[in-house]
Amino acid sequence: MPEPITPESLTSASLAPESLAPEAISTGPLAFPADFLWGAATSAYQIEGAVREDGRTPSIWDTFSHTPGRTEGGDTGDVAVEHYHRYRDDVALMADLGLTSYRFSVAWTRVQPTGRGPAVQRGLDFYRRLVDELLDRGITPSLTLYHWDLPQELENAGGWPERDTAYRFAEYAGIVGAALGDRVQLWTTLNEPWCSAFLGYGSGVHAPGRTDPAAALRAAHHLNLAHGLGASALRAAMPKRNRVGVSLNSSVIRAVSESAEDLDAVRRIDNLANGVFHGPLLHGAYPAGLFEQTARVTDWGHVQEGDLRAIHQPLDFLGLNYYTPALVSAAPSAPAGPRADGHGASDHSPWPGAGDIAFHQTPGERTEMGWTIDPGGLHELIMRYAREVPGLPLYVTENGAAYDDKPDPDGTVHDPERIAYLHAHLAAVHRAVADGADVRGYYLWSLMDNFEWAYGYGKRFGAVYVDYETQARTPKSSARWYAGVAATGELGEFQG
Ligand code: FCB
Repeated sequence: MPEPITPESLTSASLAPESLAPEAISTGPLAFPADFLWGAATSAYQIEGAVREDGRTPSIWDTFSHTPGRTEGGDTGDVAVEHYHRYRDDVALMADLGLTSYRFSVAWTRVQPTGRGPAVQRGLDFYRRLVDELLDRGITPSLTLYHWDLPQELENAGGWPERDTAYRFAEYAGIVGAALGDRVQLWTTLNEPWCSAFLGYGSGVHAPGRTDPAAALRAAHHLNLAHGLGASALRAAMPKRNRVGVSLNSSVIRAVSESAEDLDAVRRIDNLANGVFHGPLLHGAYPAGLFEQTARVTDWGHVQEGDLRAIHQPLDFLGLNYYTPALVSAAPSAPAGPRADGHGASDHSPWPGAGDIAFHQTPGERTEMGWTIDPGGLHELIMRYAREVPGLPLYVTENGAAYDDKPDPDGTVHDPERIAYLHAHLAAVHRAVADGADVRGYYLWSLMDNFEWAYGYGKRFGAVYVDYETQARTPKSSARWYAGVAATGELGEFQG
């Protein structure tokens, strides 16, 4: 197995000062690079609905959301925002807002209902129609293969803790790559594998709702393997010009104090939040200390000879999803129990082997999710990866905020808090670009209000308001504001 990487080796590379563009640091409106993509993101289960149509079968999220007590108010994605039937109008809306890119995901069970074997043509046809509609309107499609909706049949066979799931994913990747590789150039294997592994199999607040720390770590490795095998399968099936990456919810982890114990808590959580994925994906090795800190949970015997080579595929870009930072401290006597880490209420920790680390609420204003607003964290995150993997193009593949939006009597929806949030975070992205980071685009989460997983429909992240009774879409004031930024490629002064 290759040598583990150390935190020092990750931060030693520095950026060339000549990459600082003088015009980018002048005052006045902040100009983004000319070909910067202005996007919005969604995912299949959160928006499509039509869960029983055209051969689609249940994924783990269908099962989970239909299990009493798993989601707020028992909400499910059965209907969601009917995007499966309204995709044409939704693309027209994107065009109206002047978006230049759209990030969406493919529902695995529309393509392979049992998670294996030949593809269902009708399922692939839906995504082909969607992509053609986008291309007709000059919107660059950015396709994510896996946004958490594992075929239920594969979960019945053991799910991500089982090695075979990685091979199944590679087969699926090859099928979709062959079907859409002629018209989609931006390909993402996995969205936020941390959530799939640690919320799905650790704390159990996400599907499939298991609470087994050893299974969570096995899942993490098999997701890494799925990424590597999937990236290879995609490349084998698609034209060479296409670009393959991954979207990680890389976390910014801060310490309550500079004490050695608190800094060690940061190192350990960083290994579990970031290193467990970035290490193998970007550097071909698990990070130093990860195996030791989790030794009581697993012996990592599931990592086989050759896996790290298979995982460590060249990446064409890295997607960063950012919402809020985490704040931790050493807490030798911390009881295992509900934590303030912003990932939902559960008696089980999503952090294997970290029962002696406490999570704290970061000070500052918060969104409706209870997540602290900290745009500096986005700059920090981008710069970390700009240094860690110099030359690798970055995209902010998700960033946004939930607020309790309500239409005014005249039907308009004003969301000045979201505008403030987006403005501050886009300014942080701009600062990172000025500091030399190669950020190629920004995707607002989300295009429209949708099924927010265990929180159901109560949390609205959309730039477009959805009336869930009528399915009417109304762009909020933030959507109009974002359209202005996209049209000019410039971020003006914040008009609060
Ligand atoms: C991310 C998910 C996305 C959405 C946002 C709020 O973790 O990728 O689907 O739920 O959070």
